[in-house]
Amino acid sequence: MTAPLIAPSILSADFGHLARDIRTVAEGGADWIHVDVMDGRFVPNLTFGANVVAAARRACDRFVDVHLMVDQPEHYLETFAAAGAQSFTFHPEATRHPQRLLAAARALGMLAGLALNPGTPLADAEELIGDLDLLLIMTVSPGYSGQVYLPGSDDKIARARALLDRHRSPAHLEVDGGITTDTIGGAWRAGATVFVAGLSVFGAHDPVAAIRNLRRRCAVEV
Ligand code: DX5
Ligand code: ZN
Repeated sequence: MTAPLIAPSILSADFGHLARDIRTVAEGGADWIHVDVMDGRFVPNLTFGANVVAAARRACDRFVDVHLMVDQPEHYLETFAAAGAQSFTFHPEATRHPQRLLAAARALGMLAGLALNPGTPLADAEELIGDLDLLLIMTVSPGYSGQVYLPGSDDKIARARALLDRHRSPAHLEVDGGITTDTIGGAWRAGATVFVAGLSVFGAHDPVAAIRNLRRRCAVEV
C-alpha cells in the first residue's frame, strides 16, 4: 500500500503571508501544495491565477498541484504550464473535449487530472482512465474551504478505487474537501492516496502538527 500524500490547500492560507505559510507546510511535511483556481463562474468564488502558482514554486520545492474550477480550462493550459504547474486538474463539465485537454496537459509535462463533483458520476471518467494521471473526487461541492465532508464520499472513493484498479491505472486517487482527522481514515480505507486539506491544516494552531496527525490517521488505518 502506498504512503498517503498530504496536500495542504493554500485557499485557507494567510494571503498576507502566503510564501511564509507555504514554506511552513512544505518544511513541515506537506507532500504537495494544492492550488485552488476559481473563476467565479464555474464556482461562485474567485481566487487567483498563474502568478500564485509561480509564487508557490519559488517558495518551496514541493509538488504544486493545480485544481482549476474554471469554465473552459483549455484557455489556461499554456499559462499555467509556463508558471510551473506540475499537475493540471480540471472538471469535465467545464470543457467540450476533456480527452484532448488531458493529452495536451501531459504533452506540456504536467500530470493530467480530472476532478469529479459530488453529483458527477464516475462513468464520466471511465472512458478517460487511460488519459489521466490523477482522478480527484470532490468530497464537498467546490467553491469554498471549511465545508463538511459529504456523506457517501467513502463509497464513491471506493468505487473510484475499483475503477482505477479494474483498468490497472497507476493514477493518483485524490480527495478534496472536508478532510480532517475525523474523515481521512475512511477515505484512506476506501482507497484514496492523496488528501487535500485546507482549513484542517491552515486553520490549525500548529499546521505542522496538523499534517502529522492527518498522516497518523492513515498509518493507524493500515
Ligand atoms: C474547494 C477546494 C478545496 C478546498 C479544501 O472547492 O477545491 O481544495 O480548498 O478546503 P477544506 O480542506 O477546508 O475543505
Ligand atoms: Zn481543490
